Amino acid sequence: MREILDFFRQPELGGIDWEYYIDLMARTLSAKRLEHSLKVAETGVELSRLYGGAPDKIALAGLLHDGAKEMKDRELLEIAEEAGLITDPSERENPSILHGPVAAWMAETQWGVKDPIVLEAIRYHTTAAPDMSLEACIVFMADLIEPGRCYHGIAELRELAQVDLRLVMLESIDQTFIFLERKRVPVHQGMVACRKWLTETDFGHRIDRPAQPEHAHSVKGDPHEQ
Ligand SMILES: [Fe+2]
Ligand SMILES: [Fe+2]
Repeated sequence: MREILDFFRQPELGGIDWEYYIDLMARTLSAKRLEHSLKVAETGVELSRLYGGAPDKIALAGLLHDGAKEMKDRELLEIAEEAGLITDPSERENPSILHGPVAAWMAETQWGVKDPIVLEAIRYHTTAAPDMSLEACIVFMADLIEPGRCYHGIAELRELAQVDLRLVMLESIDQTFIFLERKRVPVHQGMVACRKWLTETDFGHRIDRPAQPEHAHSVKGDPHEQ
């Protein structure tokens, strides 16, 4: 715990009661998922050093993003219906993707999070959405490439994440589409709209890193396999 707290005690992450939030997640999640959440927070802070964004908001969203992941589908659906969180028919067919919106709702109503950027990053960490904040983009990517993740093509995604945020998001979304099609799971329209935003409009967030690696277009994998 002390080692974990050392990371969150960096000056750039000041002003947040990390002990409270880490303890909350330790009581809510399995040890494995807590570790994943901590790694998402750390990876997000690393990415913010490349691309900008508020590292404290990214770290908090990373820590809390899977706070509803261990709920049963029925429970997720019940909360989402009651709180008016359903935005796409795919959520009724595949309620597990509601763990983002439900966690954001819990963060706002029960965990004391008021910051809209943090809530947005939690809400869209699985499905993504058009016009996401830079912080939400970074949490979306950190969730997919944190060091504990292991799936085909992840090395290339990690490399690409160091050089072009927009492109690595596109690659990840395309891999997700392939994965969902293979499993005959419906695509969330938020992700379709996010892809359109990434390809057809001005991304608006900093991407001016060195040129992308040559093999960047050859990645294939199932980022949501785990
Ligand atoms: Fe998640
Ligand atoms: Fe996650």
